[in-house]
Amino acid sequence: MIDIRSDTVTQPTPAMRKAMAEAEVGDDVYGDDPTVNRLERLGAEMLGKEGAVFVPSGTFGNQLALFTWAPRGTEVILGEECHIIQHEAGAASTIAGVQTRTIPAPDGVLTGTALEARLRKRELHTPATSLICLENAHSLGKAVSLKAMNEVRAVADKWKLPVHLDGARIFNAAAALKTDPKNIAALVDSVMFCLSKGLCAPVGSLLAGPRAFVDEARMKRKIMGGGMRQAGILAAAGILALTEHTGRLEEDHQQAKNLAAKLAEIPGIIIKPEEADINMVFFTWPPGADETRAAKITDYFKSRGILINAPDRGGFRFVTHYWIRDREVETILAVSREAFGGAL
Ligand SMILES: Cc1ncc(COP(=O)(O)O)c(C=O)c1O
Repeated sequence: MIDIRSDTVTQPTPAMRKAMAEAEVGDDVYGDDPTVNRLERLGAEMLGKEGAVFVPSGTFGNQLALFTWAPRGTEVILGEECHIIQHEAGAASTIAGVQTRTIPAPDGVLTGTALEARLRKRELHTPATSLICLENAHSLGKAVSLKAMNEVRAVADKWKLPVHLDGARIFNAAAALKTDPKNIAALVDSVMFCLSKGLCAPVGSLLAGPRAFVDEARMKRKIMGGGMRQAGILAAAGILALTEHTGRLEEDHQQAKNLAAKLAEIPGIIIKPEEADINMVFFTWPPGADETRAAKITDYFKSRGILINAPDRGGFRFVTHYWIRDREVETILAVSREAFGGAL
């Protein structure tokens, strides 16, 4: 099957499987796993942070950041469509015990003015803001500019607040913005980034930040049950994700651009190909929002060997990744022409 539901579906490469089989391991809860230690150092270095802690997933890393930065009963400010709000099962309320407050953030951009209007001090009726969260690349498929991030940084500095970045796809953002990921990470205090997704490792994310923050996060990771013992087996794949895969993400972006440009030629598809910043292509079909017809598309693609997500209110998302090359893109386009062009 060709799977374009997400970049989370990527299988580890043969080199990763070999490195995993041969990984030198120890008990990571004692700090004894040399491969995990190497991965944490490498991840921190690549983002210009003092340290990093290995965690099982992106959701875990984000929630650990909230749990570490934000005292119980305080308020965390985030963009409306961000992953922490939309897809982490409301975890902020149960783990960190914080109140989340969202701001409209078109294309994932939080403006300084909107932000400042929401920040609060602790008073009889109001919780104190304790943290601001950003997401880059945004799961709406957008790379948020350094300028926009700087605007948030300036407000955060004025209010002496930390900023956490959900950088699940920070290397995609860096490739799209043509900048070093360190330049993105420099504008925030902590950053979570995934080794899985477009980087192909099977499991794992890193949470990076200042030394004291990482030490505290390591303690809280234990509270969350995230001490993983001989985790070097997973970290070995993570090291290859960072050394071999971060440099090639632009290829996935090019495939997405190519796919978007060709989809735009199919009558009925509404798409702005120039808006594909990273490896995600969003489009709408059919124009009249015929839900039953749109829903049949998923089954049609499956019958032709392609897995796509069910449309959300007529909106489709195709995601390119390591296993989607020219040949796969050609097949996706051929089936798209059949499905959207009249077969249904
Ligand atoms: C932007 C963003 N943040 C966080 C996550 C969570 O990662 P995980 O699925 O590893 O929990 C995802 C997953 O797709 C994501 O897209």
